[in-house]
Amino acid sequence: MGNYKFTKKWFERHIPRWEKTLDGLKKKNEKISVLEIGVFEGRAAVWVLDELFKNPESKLITIDTFKNIFVNNDYESTFRKNIKESGKENQVEIIKSNPFDALTKMNYEKRMKFDFIYVDGLLFSCDVLEGIVLSWNLLKEGGIMILDNYEWDYFEEEFNNPRIAIDSFLKIYQGKIEVIFKRFQVAVRKVDKEVPRTAREDKKLD
Ligand SMILES: C[S@@+](CC[C@H](N)C(=O)[O-])C[C@H]1O[C@@H](n2cnc3c(N)ncnc32)[C@H](O)[C@@H]1O
Repeated sequence: MGNYKFTKKWFERHIPRWEKTLDGLKKKNEKISVLEIGVFEGRAAVWVLDELFKNPESKLITIDTFKNIFVNNDYESTFRKNIKESGKENQVEIIKSNPFDALTKMNYEKRMKFDFIYVDGLLFSCDVLEGIVLSWNLLKEGGIMILDNYEWDYFEEEFNNPRIAIDSFLKIYQGKIEVIFKRFQVAVRKVDKEVPRTAREDKKLD
């Protein structure tokens, strides 16, 4: 554990549920790969590095614009210092970009698939939906995705808040996911479910 500096305690309340949900990865000695969208000062990132990274080949990729309309401090420097402090700096790739560009590139390059993806920091429902769908393809079968801000109601108009995007995702992808928990954060596992078809001739796809 490094000598970290954080100005916010947003992440702390999620730790017990993360411990439980990610226990399988915690026990894994093989290399794992994690993607985090929206990192702020790196509180969740260093938790991943400290708790899940037993193998020196494990890799954390982070995406952040480092432009936050709500906070007026240089959290990018704090993030970089905290990552250095973890002693696992060489296992972290920092992508300073908007998620659409970064995720599109990652999908196109097919460089890697992830065991765990944490989607945080996206504020508008459209961005949330786009972030989830673009990162979904980067999640391994059996992998876990945690989505933050499900109950966040910052915007006056409901359609702008993350809930509608997350609900839409859960509904449309229900044949491919298992919901682990659904509270302020939502956790899902990617699963391969059979798709039942109707017996009628005219409904056949092939
Ligand atoms: C709540 S903080 C993330 C906290 C972090 N995940 C943790 O748990 O320690 C939100 C982050 O999202 C980032 N952010 C805001 N809008 C973004 C966007 N469109 N794309 C990527 N990151 C964004 C902000 O710069 C900020 O670092």
